[in-house]
Amino acid sequence: SDLDARTAEIVKQYQSLEGPLLPILNALQAEFGYVPKSVLPDVAAALNISRAEIHGVVSFYHDYRDHPAGEHVIKVCRAEACQAAGGEAMSARLLSLLGIDWHGTTANGKVTVEPAYCLGLCACAPALFVDGAPIGRVSADRVDILVAEVAS
Ligand code: FES
Repeated sequence: SDLDARTAEIVKQYQSLEGPLLPILNALQAEFGYVPKSVLPDVAAALNISRAEIHGVVSFYHDYRDHPAGEHVIKVCRAEACQAAGGEAMSARLLSLLGIDWHGTTANGKVTVEPAYCLGLCACAPALFVDGAPIGRVSADRVDILVAEVAS
């Protein structure tokens, strides 16, 4: 398949690096928007590591998706400063308005919400990124507006 062919090219490109696994996973996610489970056995075989090992690495890093993301990706900070500033209630509202859980994507494919652990915006907590753009001091009202903007 196309997926397998592109994966083989990516593996070939990074295979000779010292510690090639993360660069390969990053490249797969950049290429496909996620790291397809179906290509992992081939990557493991090419790098001479076990399937268990590669699955362990993929699940250890929060940033790897195992399914395609929505059109918009919201990354919500769940670290201390944001928690202390009402981040938990803010993210609960966000997820409930969208009708999804962490790592979920709305049924219309519009929005994916992912947790993050300090976005470097602690001074304006609680914070999130929408498609890479930082938004600070996210109030309940701001969440409603945001959802209206990205989800429909
Ligand atoms: Fe949320 Fe740092 S703790 S941005």
